Amino acid sequence: MRNKDFILKGHICYSENSETLTIMEDSYLVCVDGISKGVFREIPEAYRNLPMKDYSGHLVMPGLTDLHVHAPQYAFRGLGMDWELLEWLNTQTFPEESKYGDEEYARKAYRIFAEDLKRSGTTRAAVFATIHVPGTEILMEELELAGVTAYVGKVNMDRNSPEYLIEETKASAEATRRWLSDLKEKEAAGNGFRHVKPILTPRFIPSCTDELMRLLAEIQKEYHLPVQSHLSENFGEIAWVKELCPEAEFYGDAYDRFGLFGEEAPAIMAHCVHSGEREIQRMKERGVYVAHCPQSNTNLSSGIAPIRRYLNEGIHVGLGSDVAGGHSLSIFRAITDAIQESKLRWRLCDDSLKPLTVEEAFYLGTMGGGSFFGRAGSFLEGYEVDALVLDESRMRHPQELTVRERLERFLYLCGDQDVLHKFAARESIF
Ligand code: GUN
Ligand code: FE
Repeated sequence: MRNKDFILKGHICYSENSETLTIMEDSYLVCVDGISKGVFREIPEAYRNLPMKDYSGHLVMPGLTDLHVHAPQYAFRGLGMDWELLEWLNTQTFPEESKYGDEEYARKAYRIFAEDLKRSGTTRAAVFATIHVPGTEILMEELELAGVTAYVGKVNMDRNSPEYLIEETKASAEATRRWLSDLKEKEAAGNGFRHVKPILTPRFIPSCTDELMRLLAEIQKEYHLPVQSHLSENFGEIAWVKELCPEAEFYGDAYDRFGLFGEEAPAIMAHCVHSGEREIQRMKERGVYVAHCPQSNTNLSSGIAPIRRYLNEGIHVGLGSDVAGGHSLSIFRAITDAIQESKLRWRLCDDSLKPLTVEEAFYLGTMGGGSFFGRAGSFLEGYEVDALVLDESRMRHPQELTVRERLERFLYLCGDQDVLHKFAARESIF
């Protein structure tokens, strides 16, 4: 018997789809080789011999996915929050990101980031590094050590960036190739990463020339890499993209013209706060994943994304912390922030788009974002078992609560520090 074969007993909570949250009280999640065989009220005969981890009385839920986070920005989270996007990038973000050319600093800072992520409820993440290749590889090593399943991107920037954080166009593409061939070599030598993979990461259209996008598209075809970037986050940014790319029909088209909008391989676009009709239709056609980052959108005064609309359209949506636009690394926070912001949007902007429910926001933080990684973020049969055992004992209360009420209260009032055990990438993390 392998240690990836086990049964978790507890109150098992998971999404089946965006509307259905299944709660199985006093039940058994059967995990064989890290894959769910389903959740049962009685252990099926065939699995009677599996070792049982008994968390009776505890809530057990899928691990969370952070679909958009900047690892090098973790060091200044909670600082410099009184700016909008473009000023914030220039005054806060770029100076800090330039430090990751120093490998010693990168190791120190990325270790803190990875260890904190390890202790959190997040089991999967799509992560931006910086333009620096050695720093990006250090981040990958630290995430692998921390047991986080991740896509990590070396960032590309060849225009409108300070001279201390900019690349020549060809050099940017070559550095990306060097990084990818390093990874291939490591893999061929048998010491590749098991849970951490590369993702193409043009920062956003204002920092990437057409020529760089063309070169990245070539790399994408060769290596079959997914892509992550930013889209329609802020009005100033959107107006700037119009000026920079007059031939693009809309912001997203500036990626799509190069096949970097989900056509060749899956794409995550962070924010999509102000996407217009044509952009939304293209996102839908291309199967783009929206990384909704409610806390960042508030901190940087970007606006409120129409997530209900995206769900109605059948567009893929997950949640992102967008640290350090978001100050908290917690996807539990992103879940409740998404609900709260959707209420403000409904009340203040558009009463045709109903607020998100707890069930829907729970789905976004688990299965919605998790699906970018395959069958992840649920306990339905066939899903990879990333699981959190929760502990609300800190929360005193005099009344009887249902399991559904306990889960809702955990989302609002507890958080990552109340995760008692975590299983991820088929292993026990703590
Ligand atoms: N757009 C381009 N770069 C960034 C970044 O680092 N954070 C956010 N929120 N938006 C961006
Ligand atoms: Fe971002």
